[in-house]
Amino acid sequence: MFLQLRNKTDFWIAERINKKLKYLKKLDADSKEEAQEKFAIWEEENKKLEEWKTKISPMPVGEFDVVYADPPWRYDFSKSDNRAIENQYPTMEVSDICKLKVPSAENSILFLWGTAPKLLEALEVMKAWGFEYKTNAVWDKKRIGMGYYFRIQHELLLIGTKGAPGVPGEKARPDSIFTEVKTQHSSKPSRVYEMIEAAYPDKKYLELFARTSRPGWRQYGNEL
Ligand SMILES: C[S@@+](CC[C@H](N)C(=O)[O-])C[C@H]1O[C@@H](n2cnc3c(N)ncnc32)[C@H](O)[C@@H]1O
Repeated sequence: MFLQLRNKTDFWIAERINKKLKYLKKLDADSKEEAQEKFAIWEEENKKLEEWKTKISPMPVGEFDVVYADPPWRYDFSKSDNRAIENQYPTMEVSDICKLKVPSAENSILFLWGTAPKLLEALEVMKAWGFEYKTNAVWDKKRIGMGYYFRIQHELLLIGTKGAPGVPGEKARPDSIFTEVKTQHSSKPSRVYEMIEAAYPDKKYLELFARTSRPGWRQYGNEL
């Protein structure tokens, strides 16, 4: 499966480089030095992407009751490369995210982050992983970000279930809107782990696309 994913990603990286080369060719001689500097940065970027690909940890084995996922959604930013998420980490096609074999238990719950523009894709992924959409909560980041129609200040945490994982007790049922100031790029509030653990205590927890480890949880990702 990863062979297929790697080929696709390789192809996509090559396309990005090609675009940059075309741009370089258009520059006049005076801009050459500046262009060479830029090119070195892009090469560095590409090296980083290649390195990340080799760091993908194996998918944990088991049957997890709670799956928490924050996928690396791929956006097509046409206007400016400055906004490209790939400057932070490699992204994935939705079809490749859907193909992941998620080791969820027969009765399990999925907490899935989806940005406002990627809502449909998030629902597609949820279904492909075998979960049925139930509801969502909103993270109010307290700071506006980018956005073409709205300056986006929130992210969605979708819930899907498989079988009958049960619902949290009334006291452990979190509010559907939580406010927490956004910190680093793509980082989600650590309070979400606490919310999940309080709502579903003593379960087998799995985080997909994790960047940090947490006691009692297993992780899958490439930045661990
Ligand atoms: C949106 S970020 C997750 C951020 C995380 N929830 C946090 O709070 O820090 C997505 C992560 O998926 C990783 N990723 C990208 N492609 C991947 C792949 N093929 N397999 C595993 N992880 C990948 C990225 O490098 C990044 O660390």
